[in-house]
Amino acid sequence: MTIPNATPSPTVRFPPPAMPSLISRNVAVIGAGAAGLCAALELRGEGHRVVVYERETQIGGTWAYTPETETDPIGLDPTRKVVQSSLYASLRTNLPRESMGFRGYPFVANRKPGRDSRRFPGHREVLEYLRDFAEEFGLGELVRFGRDVWHVGLVEDRKWVVKSRDMNREEGDNEVYDAVVICNGHFTEPRIAEIPGIDEWPGKQMHSHNYRVPDPFRDQVLMLIGSSASSDDISREISIVAKEVHVASRSVEDGRLGKLPGHDNIWLHSMIRNVHKDGMVSFEDGTEIYADVILHCTGYKYHFPFLETNGVVTVEDNAVGPLYKHIFPPTLAPWLSFVGLPWKVVPFPLIEIQCKWIAGILSGRIPLESKEEMTADIEAFNASLEATGVPKRYTHRMGEHQQFEYDDWLAAKSSSPPTEEWRKQMYFVTGRRKRSTPETYRDRWDDEDLISLAHQDFKKYPLGINL
Ligand SMILES: Cc1cc2nc3c(=O)[nH]c(=O)nc-3n(C[C@H](O)[C@H](O)[C@H](O)COP(=O)(O)OP(=O)(O)OC[C@H]3O[C@@H](n4cnc5c(N)ncnc54)[C@H](O)[C@@H]3O)c2cc1C
Ligand SMILES: *[C@@H]1O[C@H](CO)[C@@H](O)[C@H](O)[C@H]1NC(C)=O
Repeated sequence: MTIPNATPSPTVRFPPPAMPSLISRNVAVIGAGAAGLCAALELRGEGHRVVVYERETQIGGTWAYTPETETDPIGLDPTRKVVQSSLYASLRTNLPRESMGFRGYPFVANRKPGRDSRRFPGHREVLEYLRDFAEEFGLGELVRFGRDVWHVGLVEDRKWVVKSRDMNREEGDNEVYDAVVICNGHFTEPRIAEIPGIDEWPGKQMHSHNYRVPDPFRDQVLMLIGSSASSDDISREISIVAKEVHVASRSVEDGRLGKLPGHDNIWLHSMIRNVHKDGMVSFEDGTEIYADVILHCTGYKYHFPFLETNGVVTVEDNAVGPLYKHIFPPTLAPWLSFVGLPWKVVPFPLIEIQCKWIAGILSGRIPLESKEEMTADIEAFNASLEATGVPKRYTHRMGEHQQFEYDDWLAAKSSSPPTEEWRKQMYFVTGRRKRSTPETYRDRWDDEDLISLAHQDFKKYPLGINL
C-alpha cells in the first residue's frame, strides 16, 4: 500500500543529538527464574519498558523446589502438566556461593537472620537469595505471575506478539513488543536414553527430573544411567536405603568399573546394551544384573514449544541455532534473544553479562555486528566444532576455560570488567576437589585465600552487606 503524501511540514530538521540518546523499547521477557529476573533488571536499567511473563505464582524457576512431580515419571507424555523444577529435596549447590552469585549482588551468607550460611548451601538458600535480589531491585512488580506463554511470533513491522493464558487456560490479551528475551530455562524437558528391549522390560522407569527423595526406593535394585552431577548425588543418596545401585555411563573408563570405592552397594558399569523380559539388564562389556527401576539421569533438552520463527531458529540434536554468541539469531537480531543457554558454566554471572549486552544493544548504546559478520562468526564456530570432533549436541557446552573467555568477550563489549581472577581459580579448584573427594568437597576445602579475595571484592558493592 502506498502512503498518501502528508502535508509537508515547513521546517523539519534532524540535528544530530549532542549525546547518543538511548532508545527505550518495549520488551517481553519469558520466565522469572534467575535469567528472567536479571534480564528485567538490566533492561529496566537501560531504560526499556519490561514485562516478565511467569507461568508459576512465584519467582525462582529451578530454585523453587516442589515435592510435586509430573504425572508421567519419565516425562514423555506431551500432555502432562509440566513441573519446572528438577531439584531433589537434599540438593546442595555444586558451586561455592562466592563464585555463584551475580557480580552486582553477591551471594553472601547471613544477609538475613536464620539463613543457611554454608558455603555450599541447600537449594532453599538460593531461592531466598533470588527473592532478596528481586526485592532489593523491585523486580516483582515487573512480573505477571500465573501467565503461561503459549505463543511468541512475528507480526508485521518486525514486532512480536506474545500470547499467554492463565492457569484456567483462559487467554489473556495478545500483547505486542519490540523485542522478546527468552529465559525459560533448559532443565525441565527430560532427555531419555534409548534402550533396546525396553518395551518388554517389566520394571519401572523414571527420569531424574521427577526424583525428589530416596524413600520410595527402599530395598530396590536401581539402575541409574548417566554420569552427571545429579547421578553422582542421587546414586549416593539412594544407596543408603536401596538394596543395590548400579550406574551405567559412557564416561567411566574400563579400569574403573566395578564397586565404587567406599561404598558397599554401588557398582559402575559400561553402557547398557539391552534389557530383557525377565528384568535383566545387559551391559556392553557382557556383564548383566537384575534391576527393579531404571532412573534416567541423562539430562535435558532445549525446548521452546511457544516459539514460532517460521523456521529461522531450530533445535537440532539439542543445538539451538543459528545463534550468534549463543544469544541472537542473526536475521532476527536484536529483536529476539536467548539467555542462559550455555552449560557446564557458572550460570548467574554468565547470565548477567549476557543481559547487560542484550540491554545495551537494544538501546543503541552498544553496536551489534552486521548480519553478515554474525553469520560468518557462526559458520566459523560450527566449523571449529566439527574440526575438533565435538558433537553437535555439545554446541552450548562450555566448561573450564571457554566460559570465562566468553564472559570476558561480552564484558568487553559491554564496558564491564572481566571475570575476577579469584572466581576463575575458585571454579578450577572446586572442580578438582569435586573429582578427587566427591563425598566431602561441599564441607572441606583449602582455598581460604580465594574466599578472602572474594570478600574484599564484595565490599566494593554497596549491596554486599553482612559479610
Ligand atoms: C539439579 C540442578 C542443580 C543445579 N545446581 C546449580 C548450582 O549448584 N549452582 C548454579 O549456579 N546453578 C545450578 N543449576 C543451574 C540452574 O538451572 C541455574 O542456576 C538457574 O536456575 C537457571 O535459571 P533460568 O532462569 O535460566 O531457568 P529456570 O530457573 O528454569 O527458570 C525459567 C522460568 O521460566 C518459566 N517459564 C518457562 N516456560 C514458560 C512459559 N511458556 N511461560 C511462562 N513462563 C515460563 C518457568 O516457570 C521458570 O520460572 C542447577 C540446575 C539443576 C537442574
Ligand atoms: C551452525 O550450527 C547451528 C546449531 O546446530 C545451526 O542451527 C546453524 O544453522 C549452523 N549455522 C551455520 C551458518 O552453519
